[in-house]
Amino acid sequence: MNRAPLLFLGVFSALAFSFVGLVLTNQLTYGSFTTHVDEDEGNAFPLQLPGAAAQGKLVYQDLGCVSCHTQQVRREGFGPDIGEHSRGWGERQSVARDYLREERVLLGSQRVGPDLRNLAARKNAAGADFTADWLYRYIFDPKLVAAESSMPRYAFLFKTQKIVGQPSPKALALPEPYAPEAGHEIVPTARGEALVAYLLSLKDTYAYPETKNVYTPPEPKAGEKKEGHE
Ligand code: HEC
Repeated sequence: MNRAPLLFLGVFSALAFSFVGLVLTNQLTYGSFTTHVDEDEGNAFPLQLPGAAAQGKLVYQDLGCVSCHTQQVRREGFGPDIGEHSRGWGERQSVARDYLREERVLLGSQRVGPDLRNLAARKNAAGADFTADWLYRYIFDPKLVAAESSMPRYAFLFKTQKIVGQPSPKALALPEPYAPEAGHEIVPTARGEALVAYLLSLKDTYAYPETKNVYTPPEPKAGEKKEGHE
């Protein structure tokens, strides 16, 4: 019996189904996505990365930070990323449009360390001492900031130089045994500066029309103990 037509039909429908599922539906869903122009703010979101941050993204890619850090905040109910008793990684889930301007999307696949998608916003909200200097010290040696940290050091993004005249405003304030010898200072290299500019640009706080599941902390009632939602 000649089974060629049947075989052809089988192969054809497998390819057709894959094309519709993998290419066509995604094209229909996301193909028409554009930046969202907010007339009140006079800006198109997501914002373009400033030049230094765009350079820093290349350093981030180059050093493989993506092997330990994700950049995607999951919605409530899909893991403890958002919410009162959660890791506090964002106030809303990441949406496709957040990544619109990115040529290479660095979602990552495992979270050895925290998600960094909203790093700057959440650290600023946590207040106090989140600054570029905090990040420099974290990257120079994470144990300077978090004693138990298992993140590798990236001290090669810094250089020791002789102080000529005034100390550089970029010099790291380091305790012993990290402090350089007298008359010297440790400053970030151009790659280190770019990486920190990138990390400082990581904030997804703008709410697009399609943004759902924005977390608003519940108002605790007077005299009532705070209840979690876990
Ligand atoms: C081997 C895995 C690993 C790699 C590679 C790695 N990290 Fe980390 N990172 C961690 C871990 C683990 C933590 C959390 C440490 C802690 O505080 O307990 C962390 C924490 C951080 C934090 C602090 C986050 C916060 O919310 O406090 C920043 C910022 C950071 N990493 C940036 C980077 C950058 C930039 C790179 C690439 C240059 C990088 N990491 C590479 C594992 C890694």
